[in-house]
Amino acid sequence: MHSDLRHRRKVARTALPAAVLLLMGSAVVVQSSAPAAAAETTLRAAAAKAGLFFGVAASPNRLYPIVGQEFSQLTPENDMKPDRIATSSGGLQNTSGADTLVNHAQSNNMLVRGHTLVWHSQAGALQGASQATLNTFIGNAINRWGSRIAYWDVVNEALEDNNTGRRRNQWPHTMNRDANGDGDFFDAGDTDVMRDSFIRAKQVVQAGGLTTKLCINDYDVDGLTVQGGTPNRKANALYDIVRNYRQYIDCVGFQAHFNDNPNSIITDDLQANIQRFADLGVEVHITELDIDDDLSNNDIGAGQAENYRKVVRACLNVAQCTGITVWGISDSESWRSSERGLLFTGGNGSYQKKAAYHAVLDELNKGRNPTTPPTTPPVTPSVPPTTPPVDPTTPPPPTTPPPPTTPPATGCSATVSLNSWTGGFVATVRVTAGTAPISGWSVQLTLPSGATVTNAWNANRSGSSGTVQFSNVSYNGSVNAGQSTEFGFQGVGTATGLTPVCSAG
Ligand code: XIL
Repeated sequence: MHSDLRHRRKVARTALPAAVLLLMGSAVVVQSSAPAAAAETTLRAAAAKAGLFFGVAASPNRLYPIVGQEFSQLTPENDMKPDRIATSSGGLQNTSGADTLVNHAQSNNMLVRGHTLVWHSQAGALQGASQATLNTFIGNAINRWGSRIAYWDVVNEALEDNNTGRRRNQWPHTMNRDANGDGDFFDAGDTDVMRDSFIRAKQVVQAGGLTTKLCINDYDVDGLTVQGGTPNRKANALYDIVRNYRQYIDCVGFQAHFNDNPNSIITDDLQANIQRFADLGVEVHITELDIDDDLSNNDIGAGQAENYRKVVRACLNVAQCTGITVWGISDSESWRSSERGLLFTGGNGSYQKKAAYHAVLDELNKGRNPTTPPTTPPVTPSVPPTTPPVDPTTPPPPTTPPPPTTPPATGCSATVSLNSWTGGFVATVRVTAGTAPISGWSVQLTLPSGATVTNAWNANRSGSSGTVQFSNVSYNGSVNAGQSTEFGFQGVGTATGLTPVCSAG
């Protein structure tokens, strides 16, 4: 449970009837934007046009018509958690609520996010279980619903509070072992609950030929920084996990429960943080969005609406941000009802749209706006993935990329930075356009003998050893003059002295 809940200071407010709030909220929208001619009138339709899903957390007793009308994705708020469905030996029980939700989603043409397999909280009969038992549960749960689950949160909230960048020290993370004492859990000899759970989940998905994608989900990981500009160490730690386990992880969820805790505010670098995860080749989702109305300076909804707009825009501006889910329908039925953080007021199937709803709809209707480049340039990871220092509060020295080659007048250039460990490596290649824009690129490099590429992201690949060729995928071929894009690959063996050769076209 979030520790900030215990320390919250609430601003006293004069209570206003819902109807007044609604009128005031609506007035804001009318002033700020006239609806576009072809604007969609539901969140799901507007989101679909922009190429993303817009979802909601739901429970079986709240499956009102609005769920299928406004939303195109459903996350069981509680009904797929281990305390509901797991037995102590990793079997399944009490799945009827989850079944109801999955069926409802299916008949309303909604995606489902399974939530969640491995979590220290709401663990029920799994509390204290071994990795073997967790693996049994992972197999049973994934196989029960198969490809009807589009995304599974395999690991939830693995990282500690208070921006330490460390893992939690509660079960199941007490099972982690750092065999060589180097301060991380990424080495082959280490025991890592996250890695082992993802490996198991991936095996199950592959064995069943499922289309289900496997996600890691956490909170306070939203921006590159937290309040005051301090680096978001929790986000950096999550980034390292995804980078190291990229072959097992398909998607990253930012819970996005924004409140007035210094580590969970909305920062201007949210988009850049989404982008750096996207650059690893994973899908990014905003999975549990609610925005405390306190963040609106007690202005009865208008500031909250603008905050919603910011979050939706940040996602829309990154092509691989493929979905946003709000954590409930209405304020009064929310897990944090006092924060009035959702898009509707009302209850029991009778809901009224808030200013925040209109802002989200309006922003979705504007679309992805791909001609506008992100406001923040691509970010170089602040922490290398393989060998964090023994003291995690001290940032390790950054890996030194080779000096950039001078960009040619036209065409492109490429640089590579390498993170290596005994027996393996991850390479990040930056492709930079010359003085003219390019509409496609390919990069060739020659690996030393014994080195083999095992997977790549943000690029098509041909070859796996010797001379290997990479080329752009659909969304990163066009690079403006002087701008860059990144792709990456992972391999076994030793990769040194890589000299990438870039050609445009
Ligand atoms: C919350 C539910 O909304 C509540 O009904 C329940 O009592 C506690 O859990 N992070 C998560 C969600 O991943 O599962 C949590 O959901 C909210 C925080």
